[in-house]
Amino acid sequence: MTAVPLQPPRRLVDLTLDGEPVRAPEGSTLLDACRAAGKDVPTLCQGDTLTPKNACRVCVVEVEGARTLAPACSRRVEPGMEVRTDTERARHSRKVVLELLASSVDSSTTPRAAEWIEEYGAEPGRFGPDAARVDEEPKIDNDLYDHDRVRLLRCGLQPHAPCAGQ
Ligand code: FES
Repeated sequence: MTAVPLQPPRRLVDLTLDGEPVRAPEGSTLLDACRAAGKDVPTLCQGDTLTPKNACRVCVVEVEGARTLAPACSRRVEPGMEVRTDTERARHSRKVVLELLASSVDSSTTPRAAEWIEEYGAEPGRFGPDAARVDEEPKIDNDLYDHDRVRLLRCGLQPHAPCAGQ
């Protein structure tokens, strides 16, 4: 007989997402809870196998009682939290983040970036043709990694890590 390693049970945390009661395992993030509830919160620097970097801030949501928007990818669920994922404030913040990023780098290879740019009505072109586009040749570090700053989303991940913009 083979022993199956068991994970310790995780308590469930009660919170609300857009007014709907949900339960999420203790220690999970708001993004985990949103995804489990079928809510599409955009992400650029988040990766399932990466430590949250909170670099892009495109995943922000509103938490009742909090002065600032919270990055869903790193904020942990707490009992009684009231979270709103689709407010005007959150949408405006996401739109500006998408505009700034897409005006300065080539986001064409970033998964879902074009979809979110359209969904949020982002207009990267409003910063003009002289927006800070990086004009550098890709740097080839080794056989596994090309450092192409034109496509770098400034996600804060280390150069050896897989990047959302690569
Ligand atoms: S995806 Fe949350 S800060 Fe980038």
